[in-house]
Amino acid sequence: MTSLPHIAFSPEEADAMTEAEGTLVVFASRDGTLAPGAAAADAALGGALARAVGDKAFKGKPGVVDSFGWPAGHKARRLVLACIGGGDDGVSATDARKVGGAIAKALAKGPATLATAGVGEAEAVAGMVMAMALRLYEFREYRKVEDDAEPPAPRHLTVLSDAPEALARGSTDMMALAEGVFFTRDLVNEPANRLTTDEFAARLAAMQEIGLDVEILGEEALEELGMRALLGVGQGSVSETKVVTMRWNGGGDEAPFALVGKGVVFDTGGISLKPAGGMEDMTMDMGGAGTVAGVMRTLALRKAKANVIGVVGLVENMPDGKAQRPGDIVKSMKGETIEIINTDAEGRLLLCDVLWYVQETFKPTGIIDLATLTGAIIVALGHHRAGFYATDDALAGALQAACDATGDEAWRMPLGKPYAEQLKSAKADLKNTGGRHAGSITAAEFLHAFVKEEVPWIHIDIAGTATTSGGTDTAPKGATGWGVAALDRMIRDRFEA
Ligand code: BES
Ligand code: ZN
Ligand code: MN
Repeated sequence: MTSLPHIAFSPEEADAMTEAEGTLVVFASRDGTLAPGAAAADAALGGALARAVGDKAFKGKPGVVDSFGWPAGHKARRLVLACIGGGDDGVSATDARKVGGAIAKALAKGPATLATAGVGEAEAVAGMVMAMALRLYEFREYRKVEDDAEPPAPRHLTVLSDAPEALARGSTDMMALAEGVFFTRDLVNEPANRLTTDEFAARLAAMQEIGLDVEILGEEALEELGMRALLGVGQGSVSETKVVTMRWNGGGDEAPFALVGKGVVFDTGGISLKPAGGMEDMTMDMGGAGTVAGVMRTLALRKAKANVIGVVGLVENMPDGKAQRPGDIVKSMKGETIEIINTDAEGRLLLCDVLWYVQETFKPTGIIDLATLTGAIIVALGHHRAGFYATDDALAGALQAACDATGDEAWRMPLGKPYAEQLKSAKADLKNTGGRHAGSITAAEFLHAFVKEEVPWIHIDIAGTATTSGGTDTAPKGATGWGVAALDRMIRDRFEA
C-alpha cells in the first residue's frame, strides 16, 4: 500500500529551522504579518519576505506567496512563504486545505519542515498538514525506480509548533483518515488485470488484521441466495463474482449502519460494448466499493465507537460467449424480475441485489450506497460534486453537513415517481434503463425499488468525483478517495457524538 508521509511534531526552535533540509515553509497571515518563524527567516534573507507581503500583488489569499531558492543562513534548498488566509472568524477548513495543497505542490526535493508557531488555530494547522499529506500521495506501483531518483513516498514532514504534543494528539484520527483515503486511492488506481475480484477480496480480507470482521461470499453462495441480477453481470468474466462484508463493531449492540459499494473491477459495457476511446478509465468502476473499504479501514484504525458494516459487490462486466445479453430477463434476490435493455447499465443490477441482501441480513438503521453509476451525473454536475439521492431528510442533512465540512462536495438530486415510471418494462417487473433523459435519476429510482420503505437510504453517484484528470487541492491526478472523509465525519457526528 502507498504509505503516508512520515510526520513528526517538534518544538519550534531556531536550530530546527536553520538546520532543516529540503524545503522550509514559513507563514504570513492574511494581513501580511509574518509569523515568528517567517520573521526569523526574513532577517536572514535581508527582508525579502517582508517585501513579498508588502507588494501590491499580495492579496492575503490562502496559498503560496512565493518561494526562494538556496535561502541565505539556511540549510534548506528552498524556502516557501505561504499565506494561511482566513477571515474575521479565523481560518476555515477550506482555506486550510487550499494552503496545504498548494504547499505540497511547491516542495523541493527531500524532506519538508513547516514553521507553524503563531499560525492560526491548532485545528487549522492540523487540517493544513492533513491536506498536504493527502496531496503528496503518489501511485508508484508500476514505475521503474532509477538509482538516482528521488526516494519514493514516504516523504518526511516535520511540523514545528509551540504546542507540538497537543498538535500530535489532535492529528492521530486525521492520520487514520489519510490512511483510509490512500487505501481507497490505491484500489481505484490499480489496473483490472491486477485488481481482479479475487485480489480485491484478498485486500479486504487482510483488514482482519486491524480488527474488522470480513466475510466473503462466492458464486455458489450468491446463487443460493438468489442474487441472479448480480451474477448475470459477471457471467462473461473468468473472475468470480463476490460479495464481501466488512464489519466494525465499536458501538455496543445496536443495529449497524450500512455502507454499500459498487465494485465493478472493469466495465467494458458487456455485450452493449462501450466505445474504445476512454474505456481504459473503467478500471475505476469499483470506486464505490473502494470508498466503502477506505471508510471501514479508517473506522477500524481510529477505533470508532459505532457499528458499521461495509458491503461490496465485486464483479467484472465482460463480453463473452457466456455473457448476459440485452433482452435477457433476470430475477433479483428480492424476487422482482428485470429486463436487461443495456448490459452497460450493470451497476444497478449488482447494487439491487446487494442492497436487498444487506436489508435482509443485517436490518441496518440506514444505508448509504456509493457507485460510479452514470455518465449522466457528470453531465449534470461535472467533476466538481457528487450527486446524492435521499429518502430521509435528516440523513440527507447529516451527509450534506459532513460533505461541506470535509470538502467532499455534494449536491442533493431529486427522486420521484415520474422518473420511476421510465423504468416500466413490457415483459418484466422493471427494465434496467430509463431512456436518455434524467439518466442518473432513473438509475437512482431503479435502486429505490429495492429499498424498504422504512429504511432511511441515500445513493451517491460518484462517477464524476472518484477520479480527477487535473488534480484537486488534496489529490493528484487519478483516484481522489472522494467520500472517505465525508462518511467518516458523518459517522462520527451521528453515532459517536
Ligand atoms: N460505469 C458506468 C458509468 C460511468 C461513466 C462511470 C463514466 C464513470 C465515468 C456505468 O456502468 C454505465 O455504463 N452507465 C451507463 C448507463 C446507461 C447504459 C443507461 C451510462 O452512464 O452511459
Ligand atoms: Zn459501470
Ligand atoms: Mn456500465
